Amino acid sequence: MKVIIGITGGIAAYKVPELVRLFRKAGHEVQCVATSHALEFVTPLTLETVSGNKLYSDLFAPANDHTTEHVSLKDWGDIMVVAPATANIIGKMASGIGDDALSTLLLAFSGKPLYVCPAMNTQMMENPAVIRNIETLKSWGIHIIDATEGELACGTTGKGRMEEPERIFEIVCVPAQGSVPGQGSSLTGKNVLITAGPTYERIDAVRFIGNFSSGKMGFALAEEFSNRGAKVTLVTGPTAQTVHNKNIERIDVESAQQMYDACVSHFDSTDIAVLSAAVADYRPESTYDGKMKKQGDEGMVIRLVQNPDILATLGKRKRDGQMLVGFALESSNEMEYAQSKLQRKGLDMIVMNSLRDKGACFGTDTNKITIINRKGDVKQGTMKSKADVAKDIVESVADFLNDD
Ligand code: CTP
Repeated sequence: MKVIIGITGGIAAYKVPELVRLFRKAGHEVQCVATSHALEFVTPLTLETVSGNKLYSDLFAPANDHTTEHVSLKDWGDIMVVAPATANIIGKMASGIGDDALSTLLLAFSGKPLYVCPAMNTQMMENPAVIRNIETLKSWGIHIIDATEGELACGTTGKGRMEEPERIFEIVCVPAQGSVPGQGSSLTGKNVLITAGPTYERIDAVRFIGNFSSGKMGFALAEEFSNRGAKVTLVTGPTAQTVHNKNIERIDVESAQQMYDACVSHFDSTDIAVLSAAVADYRPESTYDGKMKKQGDEGMVIRLVQNPDILATLGKRKRDGQMLVGFALESSNEMEYAQSKLQRKGLDMIVMNSLRDKGACFGTDTNKITIINRKGDVKQGTMKSKADVAKDIVESVADFLNDD
């Protein structure tokens, strides 16, 4: 494997030669790219000696073989690790700024695994802008290797220490070979079908019946499955979300019927289906051609007819070896309703969230879930970003397949 290690100006840069050594010892090729501030903490000679390769740090240095390393290096690398990652580089990544060799390379590096190892003092770590930037990176499928707690260079104790090189190596290296230690089986090559967002049921040419679903949870799932090597088809209702991983096939639909048609036609070739969309249970019996006129004082009646239940349909068609996961958003008797949906719709797993948990609903960036599988295992989560919740769900799916 060809590994690019990006180094920024934090005290933990002194640990990077050890990280480089671990990759080299395991037979990987390493290329280091450092910011000028990083070179205050670790010397070019050290990095070149341990990596066995020329160091890149100056975008315009005449000594460089060519001035477009941000293009050639991103093609060379299979994987990239930024360690340590300062608040500055994290901010640049989240904002799309490229003003030196490392940040321009990061702008160009896409479609391959990218790991970021934050290291900074606790106050910086807790700064709202830094928290937001880290969440932005996570939502794009970038892996964050969390800083740990301990004694910091500034003399205080708290969260902000870069994870130890051995652990970074373990996290980065093992999934690239197919499985994550303690994290279930690999999902490489599995066909995954995901539904996301709301559906719009047309009343007339300009009005519809819909709901407040943002699609964030389904899109986070698509990114996470894709990061774990799966081939993802994402069938989504109208949403403002965008897909970042180029390997995700996105199918845009509007109504429940269109979502049903897309899912049914893809299901035969699906290994795992996760239906997180908020599908309208009913639609207007007929759609008015053009814009309806006001009906007067009497009010108006729109007759609704039931939409097909996509999840229940797939539950009936499910073959051995296919896995089906549904969602249940409940406002009372949560566990009871979720368990009954699991049975009724023929599911392997259900992800329950409750409207009673503030921050676990449509449109929020966070969620709190309970995962229940058909074997009776129950996993209760805490309030987390939707990117982290997606990791937990994908992990539970991988564990379930592993045990089956
Ligand atoms: N779902 C679906 N097609 C529908 C309705 C729901 O695929 N027409 C899926 C959702 O994507 C979700 C799960 O079914 O995964 C739960 O939907 P929910 O509306 O909670 O279930 P219902 O059976 O409609 O039960 P309720 O009576 O609570 O509305």
